[in-house]
Amino acid sequence: MRTITLIANHKLHGNSAFVTSFASSVGNALAQMPENICALYCPPAPYLSLAKDTSKNSRLQIAAQTLSQQTSGAHTGSVAASMLADIGVFYCLVGHSEVRAREQLSNADVATAASRAIEQGITPIICVGESEAEHASGQTAEVLSKQVASLEEVLSTGNPLMIAYEPVWAIGSGRTPSSAEICEAHRHIRACVHSMKEARDTHISLLYGGSVKPNNLNDILAIAGVDGALIGSASLVVEDFNAMLQQAVTLLKG
Ligand code: PGA
Repeated sequence: MRTITLIANHKLHGNSAFVTSFASSVGNALAQMPENICALYCPPAPYLSLAKDTSKNSRLQIAAQTLSQQTSGAHTGSVAASMLADIGVFYCLVGHSEVRAREQLSNADVATAASRAIEQGITPIICVGESEAEHASGQTAEVLSKQVASLEEVLSTGNPLMIAYEPVWAIGSGRTPSSAEICEAHRHIRACVHSMKEARDTHISLLYGGSVKPNNLNDILAIAGVDGALIGSASLVVEDFNAMLQQAVTLLKG
């Protein structure tokens, strides 16, 4: 049975009142939806526990937006995987392009952070994708190959994980790749994983992210190999996010 997962990435938006009402509203909406519709909510780090408490009787899962490659020590401002597990957060975005850029993370750094997550029983949602210049010069497949290859150790653990294909140039820009490009990128990522002997049987949900909106979600979810979407700005209005979940329900019924 096909499962569709939608993730709301709220970046640096929200406050206590907003987090409470977002988490309870999505939790209530999910109660009316089939179990193969999954939703994750990534609030800013200070609100993780609040979101977790608010959603505790619902199917809404809470995810952190990032975690450290370090386990402890003199790393001001960082959050360790063990701390997320300690407060009951078992999903985390890893290597989002905004974090890669801000912290100048290499592919190896991202792989280390993903390993830290897995060590703590946290499912990493690993973000990959090419820059605008790489897209323009036809290097998308090459970039994705390198990013996925660096994850070999993580993928070989056999732990379930998610990969989000997020072209850097599509994030927050209102521009998306064509359906054919998304389809090809997803096919390529799966082929890269499949080519790794140890990783071949690892269950991977493969999501698309970058300017997903209510008016393009149906087309994106209809692309072969797309298991869901990572949604930034269009997820900030709870009615819109719930409506997108409802679109996914309709699509699965279709
Ligand atoms: P966007 O962000 O939907 O606002 O483009 C997506 C993301 O950064 O995950």
